Amino acid sequence: MFDGVARGYDRTNSVLSMGNSLIWRIATVRAVAPMKGEKVLDLAAGTGTSSAALAKGGAEVTAADFSPGMIEVGRKKHPGITFVQADAMNLPFADGEFDAATISFGLRNIEDPRKALAEMYRVLKPGGRLIICEFSKPPRAIFRVGYSAYMRFIMPTIVDVTSSNSEAYSYLNESIKDWPDQTTLSTWIRGAGFTRVAYRNLTAGVVALHRGRKPLPAAARSRSKATPATGTTATIPPASTEPTSAEPTGTGASQS
Ligand SMILES: C[S@@+](CC[C@H](N)C(=O)[O-])C[C@H]1O[C@@H](n2cnc3c(N)ncnc32)[C@H](O)[C@@H]1O
Repeated sequence: MFDGVARGYDRTNSVLSMGNSLIWRIATVRAVAPMKGEKVLDLAAGTGTSSAALAKGGAEVTAADFSPGMIEVGRKKHPGITFVQADAMNLPFADGEFDAATISFGLRNIEDPRKALAEMYRVLKPGGRLIICEFSKPPRAIFRVGYSAYMRFIMPTIVDVTSSNSEAYSYLNESIKDWPDQTTLSTWIRGAGFTRVAYRNLTAGVVALHRGRKPLPAAARSRSKATPATGTTATIPPASTEPTSAEPTGTGASQS
């Protein structure tokens, strides 16, 4: 399906998001805060638009994606980026290889997103950063109503005009509806072992930016000591909080 939309993918995104995709990408890059010389994994990177932005400051970015069509477009657009064809649920990278791992609008498309979270945890160095940018649920009813009207009535018309494969975009609508809310995704991220889990809403919660850290070994050891003796599966760490810059509504940020 992604091979089928690769050609017009970036243009369609831009139009569909009414320019917001640029804001979401900027927020994601800021949250990843890639430093020169760091190794950054951009998972489900598609045509590499986010990868190129991440690489601007001198980080070594690996753009991994499942779709040969997306990669082909990406390689032409961004010859300086390393593209790897890879399944997010079984990454061809060593343990602890990356300083940061990020995924934008990709986790929702993966068959088993929790497996992908576990893989991102594995390939991160201890202390490594996880940033996820994904469609989410606007917490305010008024936005939810407006958003679902847009998805139902306006988006299909725009897609017909701008996309190379408009049928594939009806999937987008369905997948967003079925995707869990901010709190549930935060629980999944903690479940994969990440600490300092937090999120902030963008565009009133149409999109949420989630983050977490792979704990340092000492933190992991002290956590396992604190695990109750009776607990058989008490592996979810008591995550510490991290300040988030919530939207002015104050309802957007959730920590721990
Ligand atoms: C909506 S696109 C997002 C692309 C890009 N991150 C962006 O922000 O424009 C979703 C991408 O997820 C990729 N994808 C879906 N399942 C995958 C998997 N199991 N492993 C790796 N990539 C996958 C698709 O090929 C597609 O390029």
